[in-house]
Amino acid sequence: MTNFIDSPFIRDFTKITLQLYEHGWDERNGGNVSYRLTEGEVSQYEDVQKISRNIPIDFDGADLAGMYFLVTGTGKYFKNIIEFPNRDVGLVRIAEDGKSVDIVWGFNDGGKPTSEFPTHLMGHATRLKVNPNQRVIMHCHPTNLIAMTFTFPLDEKEITKTLWKMQTESIVVFPDGVGIVPWMVPGNTEIGKVTSDKLKEFSSVIWPQHGIFASGSSIDEAFGLIETIEKAAEIYNIIQATGGQIQQTITDQQLANLARAFGVKPKKGYLEV
Ligand code: 13P
Ligand code: ZN
Repeated sequence: MTNFIDSPFIRDFTKITLQLYEHGWDERNGGNVSYRLTEGEVSQYEDVQKISRNIPIDFDGADLAGMYFLVTGTGKYFKNIIEFPNRDVGLVRIAEDGKSVDIVWGFNDGGKPTSEFPTHLMGHATRLKVNPNQRVIMHCHPTNLIAMTFTFPLDEKEITKTLWKMQTESIVVFPDGVGIVPWMVPGNTEIGKVTSDKLKEFSSVIWPQHGIFASGSSIDEAFGLIETIEKAAEIYNIIQATGGQIQQTITDQQLANLARAFGVKPKKGYLEV
């Protein structure tokens, strides 16, 4: 029986945290990731069977009782996670009453889950109702998207349509659009509730002047969603920096044609066709 540290879950997780760092989207301890694992996946590893500590949570996690989440620790630097996974990452199981989490692996320096754990757990609970294969919530600080939240109106329809029009593939990757919450103090249950409410209708949510929360059924899907949104924001910023003069764009009709060709449903009411 292999140890959890040698599992493909740790390999994939630490690979993505390093890539997030290398993209410049997770400076210092910026960003956090959680990855839902099944009982069957976890039970193969002998070293995850015992509870090392129990940590209370201040919201109702009953919907997630018994579920396992691999999650980054609060204050941990993303550049280091690949070297110290059992210190900087932990595997937790939501207790039966939904009021606490048991640490079953990792956080071996006494660490605990990210300060954004309320948003992650509430986000998983919400997205699991939309998509039973939901697995990953990923938060990071993508540079161009953050910059755009200073210069662009914080309107979901406006920002979504602009990001759709910045490159042909956008609407195929996020036909449901991008949600936005007002600026709020991070790291608490309140922002978690507001964000998870948005995740009912959007697979990703912008935190103005802070970053993004994205969901997905795999690490690649959540990361790919952020990459695509950030690329669109980068193109937007380049256009602005070079004078903002548009000679041509992708029209609403062309977006509708793309959606039909790729079999995706654009957010209702967003396209004027
Ligand atoms: P943590 O170190 O608690 O994960 O916080 C980082 C962050 O990005 C807060 O929004
Ligand atoms: Zn953050």
